[in-house]
Amino acid sequence: MKKEKEFKVTPYEVEGEVDYSKLIKEFGVSHIDEKLLNRIKKHTGDLHLFLRRGVFFAHRDMNWLLDEYEKGNKFFLYTGRASSKKSKVHLGHLIPWILCKWLQDKFDAEMWFQFPDEEKFLYKQDVTLKDTAEATYEDMLDIIALGFKPEKTHFIIDTKHAGLMYKEACKVAKKITFSMVKSSFGFTESQNIGSIFYTSMQAVPAFLPSVLKGKNIPCLIPLGIDQDPHFRISRDVMPKLGYYKPAILHNVFLPPLTGIGGKMAASSAEENAIYTTDSPEQVSRKINKYAFSGGQATIKEHRKKGGNPGIDVSFQYLKMFFEPDDRKLEKIEKDYKSGKLLTGELKQILINKINKFLQEHQKAREKAKNQVDKFILKN
Ligand code: TRP
Repeated sequence: MKKEKEFKVTPYEVEGEVDYSKLIKEFGVSHIDEKLLNRIKKHTGDLHLFLRRGVFFAHRDMNWLLDEYEKGNKFFLYTGRASSKKSKVHLGHLIPWILCKWLQDKFDAEMWFQFPDEEKFLYKQDVTLKDTAEATYEDMLDIIALGFKPEKTHFIIDTKHAGLMYKEACKVAKKITFSMVKSSFGFTESQNIGSIFYTSMQAVPAFLPSVLKGKNIPCLIPLGIDQDPHFRISRDVMPKLGYYKPAILHNVFLPPLTGIGGKMAASSAEENAIYTTDSPEQVSRKINKYAFSGGQATIKEHRKKGGNPGIDVSFQYLKMFFEPDDRKLEKIEKDYKSGKLLTGELKQILINKINKFLQEHQKAREKAKNQVDKFILKN
């Protein structure tokens, strides 16, 4: 019998090999099934590969959101990013943001993007507010580079927009106890009080547009499943304040280069992640050196037995992100399994794809430098 493996998923810690079906039960979220996908497709015409291939695997209240949409009650999108110099943007971070951009186009939705520039400051001993401010600017470039519409996208920066947010955050905070936060995040008595309050700041953008417009607008939040605990707590508060609970779409983690199971973590070892600012040489070196292979030890053996795409990180990156063509992906899978395609060749396919993507991204990122002001919400 397989031994039960321990794993842990909170916004501040992802540890061990994540069992996503167990998470669905533990977090009380719903699986994204064919029926829901078809319902989305009815409105979008096609399905983004992140939806088709199960990168987004769970949700909260999507059927309600679509009911409202079908009644003519349009939703806005919300997600966020807590920047710090120690955590550069990597490919895994882009997943919810790319889906947001796709949803913005398909549903002509407003996008609200939060930069909680106090979050990492509060949670990490050695991070200053100057660090987070500088990193926030860098991260904005990555987000703008993905192609969001400036006239429909609003960046909120917690310390800059505090005047707008604080009143609302207080209303949320009044309805959340320390014991709720403690059990959801694994806090102890020695946790600083800023980080205990933080969840209420993250809740605000989910209903701030409703406050500003003076009418209730449904909200959809695409996010990495580790962020769910914030909303598990604050969603219950929102109806008490007279607002809708936001709907949520949860994505799995892009695995680290070193092996399936965990999460690409920007702040851990360099070899775990591909950053959006990596050069073609860095990408090539990292994939060749670190990407965990499902291939055999020797070419002879590989030709005979074939590789295992299920545990092969390069194949998983193609499947989850870089090869949208289902037929091409199927052929790669088949050839790898049969031994026709070698590990080195598979890695090269991935390297070319990532580098092509990053070349475009980095160009757009440069251009974004004189667009930032257009995206920041006018106070
Ligand atoms: N807490 C998130 C992080 O650590 C940032 C964030 C703010 C966020 N608001 C959000 C993430 C809404 C997802 C959805 O990066």
